[in-house]
Amino acid sequence: MTQRKGIILAGGSGTRLYPITMGVSKQLLPVYDKPMVYYPLTVLMLAGIREICVITTPEDQAQFQRTLGDGSQWGISLTYIEQPSPDGLAQAYLLARDFLDGAPSAMVLGDNVFFGHGLPELLAEADARTTGGTVFGYRVSDPERYGVVDYDAAGRVTQIIEKPQKAPSPYAVTGLYFLDGTAPERAATVTPSDRGELEITSLLETYLEDGLLDVRRMGRGYAWLDTGTHGSLLDAGNFVRTLVQRQGLQIGNPDEIAYEAGWVGRDEIEARAKAFGKNDYGAYLRRLLD
Ligand code: DAU
Repeated sequence: MTQRKGIILAGGSGTRLYPITMGVSKQLLPVYDKPMVYYPLTVLMLAGIREICVITTPEDQAQFQRTLGDGSQWGISLTYIEQPSPDGLAQAYLLARDFLDGAPSAMVLGDNVFFGHGLPELLAEADARTTGGTVFGYRVSDPERYGVVDYDAAGRVTQIIEKPQKAPSPYAVTGLYFLDGTAPERAATVTPSDRGELEITSLLETYLEDGLLDVRRMGRGYAWLDTGTHGSLLDAGNFVRTLVQRQGLQIGNPDEIAYEAGWVGRDEIEARAKAFGKNDYGAYLRRLLD
C-alpha cells in the first residue's frame, strides 16, 4: 500500500478571533504552552505519517515556516502550500493534488485539538482502511456549529449536513479526515455551496453515496476541544494546563513523539533541548532523556 500522507489545513481568515488574528494566524496562537498547530501536527505523527503538507494563506506561510521548519528536526518532511483565498475545506485536496500524487491522506484542521487514551489505536484503525474514508463523530452540546451526522432508525449514516439549523443528531464530524487516493478527483466534482465554499461535507457525501464512508464514534473518553471563540480557546488552554500540571507529561509535543517513534535519536533531542535552553520545553526534553 502507498504510504498515507498528511495535510494540515491552516488557512482561513480567522475573523472570529479579531483583533488578535489581524497580525498572526489563528493556528499559531498558544494553546497553553504550545502553538495551536502542534496539536493537529502531532495527531498526524501519532498516526505514523511522516510526509505532511501545511496549507496556509500566502501571508502566513513564512510564520509557519519559522515555527515548524522543514520537519527534519522531528524526522518528518513538511511541505508548504498556499491557499490564496479560503474557498472551503475540500479545496485542500485540489491544492494538495500534486503533493499527494495518488496517495491516501489524513487531513486535520489546524485548529482542532484532540486528546484521549487510545488515540494512536483509533488512528491506526483508520489508517489501515485503504479504500474509502473514515471520519469521526463526536457528541457535542452545540452540533449546529459543525458538520452533523444524520442516522436512520437502524443507526446507519444517511447524510452529513453542514451547519444544519436543527441538528438531526448530537454527533459532529471532527476536523480529521482519512480519505483514500481518490479524494482529489472527487473534490474536483464538488461545486460551491450557498455560502460559496467547497464544503468538506459535499466531498464526504460522494464517499457516502458509494458506500465507502466509515463514520467512527469518538467516545466520551476523548476530548475534542473547540478553539473557535476567545472563551473556548482559553478553555482549551486551561484543559491542557490542568493535565500537564497534574501529570508532568506534555500534550502534543512533536519532539517527544518523534523520539518515542524512533524517528530521531538521543543526540537530536539533546541538541533541541540545548537550543531551548533553560525554558520549560527544554527542561521537558532533558527529562525525556533521563
Ligand atoms: O472543526 C470541525 C468542523 O470544521 C466540521 O465539523 C465542519 O464540517 C467543517 O466545515 C469545519 O467547520 P468550521 O465552521 O470550523 O469551518 P471553518 O470555516 O471555521 O474552517 C475550519 C478551519 O479551516 C479554520 O481554522 C480555517 C481553516 N480553513 C477554512 C476554510 C474555509 C482553511 O484553511 N481554508 C478554508 O478555505
